[in-house]
Amino acid sequence: MTDQVLNTPLTRLTGVRHPVVQTGMGWVAGPRLVSAVANAGGLGILASATMTLDQLATAIEEVRSRTEAPFGVNLRADASDAGDRIDLLIRKRVKVASFALAPRQELIAKLKDAGVVVIPSVGARRHAEKVAAWGADAVLVQGGEGGGHTGAVATTLLLPQVVDAVDIPVIAAGGFFDGRGLAAALAYGAAGVAMGTRFLLTSDSSVPDAVKRLYLGTSDTVVTRQVDGMPHRVLRTPLVNALESSGRLSGLVRAVRNAARFRRVSGMSWPGMIRDGLAMKHGKELSWSQVLMAANTPMLLKAAMVDGRPDLGVMASGQVVALIDDLPSCEELIDAVVTQAADVLRGLGANLAD
Ligand SMILES: Cc1cc2nc3c(=O)[nH]c(=O)nc-3n(C[C@H](O)[C@H](O)[C@H](O)COP(=O)(O)O)c2cc1C
Repeated sequence: MTDQVLNTPLTRLTGVRHPVVQTGMGWVAGPRLVSAVANAGGLGILASATMTLDQLATAIEEVRSRTEAPFGVNLRADASDAGDRIDLLIRKRVKVASFALAPRQELIAKLKDAGVVVIPSVGARRHAEKVAAWGADAVLVQGGEGGGHTGAVATTLLLPQVVDAVDIPVIAAGGFFDGRGLAAALAYGAAGVAMGTRFLLTSDSSVPDAVKRLYLGTSDTVVTRQVDGMPHRVLRTPLVNALESSGRLSGLVRAVRNAARFRRVSGMSWPGMIRDGLAMKHGKELSWSQVLMAANTPMLLKAAMVDGRPDLGVMASGQVVALIDDLPSCEELIDAVVTQAADVLRGLGANLAD
């Protein structure tokens, strides 16, 4: 494992050796991937939205049994049991709480009082300003080229705006895969990079091999609203093309079926799901059919990521998939990224005129 070569506000804040984050990807970022990243000196983040509370407790224990290094857990701030999950993180002394949506101010305060580092993800400058004002320790900003739910503004434009707008460490996400990207992010003023697609495509990720091969052989992604009503970047596959051209009614029928399946798998009650739906709808322009479609996402991702059936599911992916053609271990990947970033930064210094 490479010694520390880059010391940034992110490494100092979280206690990890390298300023490289593996993001919390539903069904993908489980104990195996997270502990491999932690052991390689990066910040691994466990995805918990697709786990019950008990499953999350077991997953945290499993990561602990595989590594002594710090790691994080990604939470949905609008989940009906978000409070219980936060209590669990505090009890288990998890180092970092990451949030897909901005958590309420009092939840941030509770975590911070207990010594947990709070890092919400945002896709717009005004959201970064809001969570910084609420006391977040750092912010992860994802540009439009990133995989999964994503915005329209590219990392190259969003990142400098956010760096200028807040005075907490900023982690850059969306489109990163190598050391040049890390050096560029540091040049923009970021404290490190976060990568999703690149970590999915490692030998340590538990995604079935056939699905990884499909990613490696695909370079085309599309942002679709047909999965859950919100812009979602996924691999372009025949299924996605069919969803894109399917009518409203068939989409709704499919959404109801998948919502029922997710309810069984997640152990959630219908009232719980409706509460989550209401929380999700709150303050957004979502119709009820879109809220219902949101339950599609977990089942459609699971079909590919866990069951190995890309023909039946969707595969979230960043545009960066077009530049990836190998499956390194997390240790090989992180070592290569930080070593190359340090070389690039040294090389740039040599360009300076006296
Ligand atoms: C397969 C997959 C699943 C994802 N699931 C989630 C998720 O459950 N919650 C979340 O906040 N972000 C999720 N994301 C987004 C990532 O956390 C991350 O922000 C994004 O992948 C960064 O862009 P990149 O893929 O270009 O590295 C997912 C991304 C992928 C590729």
